[in-house]
Amino acid sequence: MQPFLTIDNLGKRFGDFTALKEIALSVNKGEFICFLGPSGCGKTTLLRMIAGLEACHQGEIWQDGVNITPLPPEQRDFGIVFQSYALFPNLSVSENIGFGLKNQGKSRREVAMSVAEWLEIIGLPDSGLKFPSQLSGGQQQRVALARALALSPGLLLLDEPLSALDAKVRIKLRETICKLQRKLGITTIMVTHDQEEAMVMADRIVVMNYGHIEQIGTPEEVYRNPASRFVAEFVGAMNFLEDDINDNNQMFLANQPLSLKVADTAERKVILGIRPEDLSFGKTESALPVNVESLEFQGSFVRAECSPVGWTSNHPIKVDVPIHQLADLELKPGNLNRLSLSEQHIHVFPAAL
Ligand SMILES: Nc1ncnc2c1ncn2[C@@H]1O[C@H](COP(=O)(O)OP(=O)(O)O)[C@@H](O)[C@H]1O
Ligand SMILES: [Mg+2]
Repeated sequence: MQPFLTIDNLGKRFGDFTALKEIALSVNKGEFICFLGPSGCGKTTLLRMIAGLEACHQGEIWQDGVNITPLPPEQRDFGIVFQSYALFPNLSVSENIGFGLKNQGKSRREVAMSVAEWLEIIGLPDSGLKFPSQLSGGQQQRVALARALALSPGLLLLDEPLSALDAKVRIKLRETICKLQRKLGITTIMVTHDQEEAMVMADRIVVMNYGHIEQIGTPEEVYRNPASRFVAEFVGAMNFLEDDINDNNQMFLANQPLSLKVADTAERKVILGIRPEDLSFGKTESALPVNVESLEFQGSFVRAECSPVGWTSNHPIKVDVPIHQLADLELKPGNLNRLSLSEQHIHVFPAAL
């Protein structure tokens, strides 16, 4: 199947500053893609280039078999929603939603019917005559979504549409967007810096850092097989332990040999990444001795922060204990405990970033 959107070796500079480099990405029809990364990594710039709001210095963008790189925004086929609602403040909700349809020359009746339908879909059937300032943030974002979708675009672009909303509203609107996206089967790209949001909503996540793509994968792939230390740190929680390798490519943890071997490398140092849920407290002699420093209740699990005893780590070690296992353990701040891990869950990264 030919991808719906293809981004080929895209680059963007602002003066001397390289905002994006060597961006390559294919999006299938109907897919929900999230651009995920820290503030300033280039997510918005990339989204704006797809919309034609920012010129390309290098590379091409193809949508639905057409090279859209030279096209201005009005000749492209997308709807867009920004973080700040960006509704027309002097137009009513209905006029906002119907704006594009009216511009397209649709009859007044057609516009009215479409607007009524959209008001129903976004759950604001009685708010058509209100003005944006009379709506809550979440409601305004629903209107912005309806306005973006009313023209049935081929591509929906969302730039942090949920970031300005409070937690409850955000989760509700998350569901609305996902349901609507699936119902319409519209190819969607959403920018977010919130890894949880990306994990919950996306079919595939594009993890970005400093203007380049670190990894593209399903939420599960990105979480379970982070391609770099950056991804491992940005998506979910991860303990990092420095580790020396001996001449037989043997690694050690707490002075005990691991059966895990690294590939032949000149590097004599690696970083081991272990998720808090892949560590557990046990009694076996071979386990790693730690002092429990603090316990943090998280609902379905307790996160213990521990310091190593007789071995070293630069950071406290986080261990997630499922709440139902807590009763069987003697976990108290100050207590000595032993950690065990299954080596299959260890990630190995080069020490140099
Ligand atoms: N118009 C511009 N002029 C100069 N620098 C810009 C411009 N737009 C964005 N940048 C810079 O490009 C980088 C990426 O910005 P942006 O795409 O907005 O990041 P993100 O959306 O991931 O937070 C930032 O360092 C930002 O300061
Ligand atoms: Mg941004």
